[in-house]
Amino acid sequence: MSLAYFNGRFVPLEEAVVPVEERGHQFGDGVYEYMRFYDGKGFMLEEHLDRFYRSAELIRLNAGISRAELLAVMSELLERSGLRHADIYMQLTRGIAPRNHPFPDAPASLSMTVKPSRKVDPELRKQGASVLLHPDERWMNCHIKSLNLLPNVLAKQAAVDAGCFEAVLIREDGYITEGSSSNMYLVKDGAIRTAPLSNRILPGIRREAVRRIALEAGIPFIEEPFTPAELLDADEAFLTSTGIEIIPVVQLHGQGPIGSGAPGGTVRELHRLFLEKTSLPASV
Ligand code: PDD
Repeated sequence: MSLAYFNGRFVPLEEAVVPVEERGHQFGDGVYEYMRFYDGKGFMLEEHLDRFYRSAELIRLNAGISRAELLAVMSELLERSGLRHADIYMQLTRGIAPRNHPFPDAPASLSMTVKPSRKVDPELRKQGASVLLHPDERWMNCHIKSLNLLPNVLAKQAAVDAGCFEAVLIREDGYITEGSSSNMYLVKDGAIRTAPLSNRILPGIRREAVRRIALEAGIPFIEEPFTPAELLDADEAFLTSTGIEIIPVVQLHGQGPIGSGAPGGTVRELHRLFLEKTSLPASV
């Protein structure tokens, strides 16, 4: 069963509401996390919580809740839902107060939802995805997992309108940063390349998982940005996020195929090693 939590109360998802004067609603004044549970076990939860608290601190938001308390809410939510393969979204905002820009004198608001894990179309994994290049119109603090996702939403919709799976964002200097809701990689001569951690990208938890897997497997992991021309010249490409895990990218919309135009061996191997880490058969 899908469930929600809001400031101390557990409620069925359909009945969960947020007050109109909640600052997440009126200003997008908050941060969020998205975590996946495999057979009841959270994947890299510590890393997700580190990012959550770091994001809150960077927007000067006092979470007002300890890590242990957060974990307790999450496990109660999971238990009440009865779900084993589950996705938890968690939002922390600057609370409920009459609409006014300065920080209010109000405690932070915490909401969560738990739902069955989102599934990726197996055909997409098998065939690979097309991506659309789109200007990166976001602010310069993309390392913060902010609730403000308007540029991401607009870019993703442009991709969907073009029949693509994801928008790949490009800054004015000509370098690709990441996807609208994912990190982006190419593979060239057996090495993985992706934008370095900075204020231009979200430090993805799946990105960190891939970095560790690559290290263990002896696959070079180069943290240098790349251009669309380099992407077109790559042998393989892929995207990662909590929701999609690892998806091959085979086509740059309007510009041509990447590599052979079909998913390659390195991405397949990374996905296999990733599934091993989550102890899941490929079918789940
Ligand atoms: N988004 N970059 C951006 C801009 C993202 O929004 C996400 C995740 C990622 C990948 O991060 P991670 O590996 O920690 O999921 C990178 C999630 C899927 C979302 O907003 O729903």
